[in-house]
This record gives sequence, structure tokens and C-alpha cells, in this order.
Amino acid sequence: MNSLLSICDIKDEVSGILELAKDFKDGKIEGKPLKDKNLAMIFQKSSTRTRVSFEVGMNQLGGNSLFLSNDDIQMGRGEPISDTAKVLSRYVDGIMIRAIEHEDVVELAKEADVPIISGLTNLEHPCQALADMLTVKEQFGNFEGKFAYVGDGNNVCNSLLLICASLGMDIAVGCPKGYEPNPDIVKKANKIAERNNSYIIITEDVEVAVKNAVTVYTDVWVSMGDEKQEGKRRKVFRKYQVNEELMKLANKDAIFMHCLPAIRGEEVTAEVIDSPQSVVIDQAENRLHAQKAVLYHFLK
Ligand code: CP
Ligand code: NVA
Repeated sequence: MNSLLSICDIKDEVSGILELAKDFKDGKIEGKPLKDKNLAMIFQKSSTRTRVSFEVGMNQLGGNSLFLSNDDIQMGRGEPISDTAKVLSRYVDGIMIRAIEHEDVVELAKEADVPIISGLTNLEHPCQALADMLTVKEQFGNFEGKFAYVGDGNNVCNSLLLICASLGMDIAVGCPKGYEPNPDIVKKANKIAERNNSYIIITEDVEVAVKNAVTVYTDVWVSMGDEKQEGKRRKVFRKYQVNEELMKLANKDAIFMHCLPAIRGEEVTAEVIDSPQSVVIDQAENRLHAQKAVLYHFLK
């Protein structure tokens, strides 16, 4: 069964899925292609964009979605993942899950008979990366130039490395020592990038990462689940704030990106995120169009 746990699962299909997302956005796909299909949505963590875009997306495609928070389902009380996977597979046509542990989603996919779509784990956030690259494409019309990611080498960063490599876009990550992206993901991304003639740079020097970039992207310093390290992280990441001074190092026409939610005054200043250079609300809108493409691709 095909599932979307990582950008690696669609590395040769990314362009096609983005084209489909654009067609959905432009209203080129008519009818209700997912009529009578049901999507279970398991949320072990909070969400605004992922939940609403999947729910609205499913509805617009003619299907139905079921929101299952960790407190609502027996898995939250310890029912085995395998039983949950097998039982839900008898009721629904697909399962979207936002999980704490990536390994749990891998197990869910192994045991289920329906497609599993990750809506974020500690390792990756593939649906976010699709919406992000849809946004880059509509801003520039191509994937040329350098994509700079600044801050924590987290789930969002991991998926961005893989998707940039898949699309042949150069990417530089500026992050503190000890907060680099996952080494296995970097290895995989490097292999893909090599095939697509693009490069990946991981550096502690934030200025090197941002210099001449066309896109400057950041995410929170404290991801869901990292709350215990909050104090330490605030200190470590201070030099990695995206502010007007840092943005000056990027291209004149560079855009600012963030997956949201954002904390103004931490990873980004209000001057940057609320400036005309910022495309964060377009990114959030594009979650809906990208989600519809993903749902169509996996559930149709
Ligand atoms: N960017 C993102 O995934 O937002 P939510 O946490 O609100 O779903
Ligand atoms: N890195 C963040 C992304 C939230 C959408 C987190 O995992 O909390």
C-alpha cells in the first residue's frame, strides 16, 4: 500500500503532485473525485492548518473526514497500533496521522491496508514541504537559486532538504552545532541532490547560509515535544533569528517563509514576518491545495 510518511516516498512524483495542486488551486479539476471516501485523522498533537486543510480538502473533494484526537481513541489508552491499523482499515479509505514518534507511523503503515499520510512526526512534515514548494513555484516560476533554512534542523527542515533535492533546488541550512538535520535524511537528500545536479550545505554560519538566497525559511526554536529544553534552546538559537539585518544578506527579491505557528521576537521579528517579503499566509493557504493533491493521489 502506498503511503506518504516521508518525501522519499514520492521523490519521483513531487513535480506531478505539485502540478495537481496547482490545478486544484486554479479550479481546473471538477466534480467530487473522492465522493463516498472516508479519511480518519488521528491527532496526537495540536494543529490548526493541518487539521482544517485536510478536513476542508476532503469535504471539497466530496469525501468525509473523522477527527480523532488522542483522547478520543483507544490508541491513546494503549491499544496496540497494529489493532488500530487493522480495524480502521475496515472502515475508512485512508488514515492521516499527526504523531509524536515517526516509528509509530511506520508501524501503522506496515499494519494498515489503506494509505497512511503523515501530518507531521518528530522526523518529517512532508505535506508542509509540498505546500512550501507550491508557494516557491508560484512566487518565482521555477526552483532556481538557493533556498536558505535557518534555525532548528527539525522535522520541517528534514522534509525541506528532501523536497529541494528532489526538485533540484539548492538548499543551505544554517543551524547551531548539535541541532543539525537528521544525518540519515541528509545522506538520502545528498544522493537525490547529486542526481539532480543541486547542492546541499549544512553550516553553523547563518550568514553563509542566507547570503544571496532567494528564499529564507525558519521555524520555531521549540517544536512540539521539545518544551523541556525551552530555556536552553532560546539561548542556543539567539544568533539564528531572522531579522531585517539578516534578510539584507539574501537577494533583493527574496521571500520569507515559515510553516507557522510562529513566535514573533524569537525565530523571526515582526518586521520580517509581517513585511511584504513574507509569504507565510500564502503558504498556509497552499496547504489546502497541496492536501487535495495528496488526497487525490493516494485515495482516488
Ligand atoms: N504548519 C502546520 O503544520 O500547522 P499546524 O500545526 O497548525 O497544523
Ligand atoms: N517544527 C514544528 C512544526 C509545527 C508545524 C513542530 O514540530 O512543532
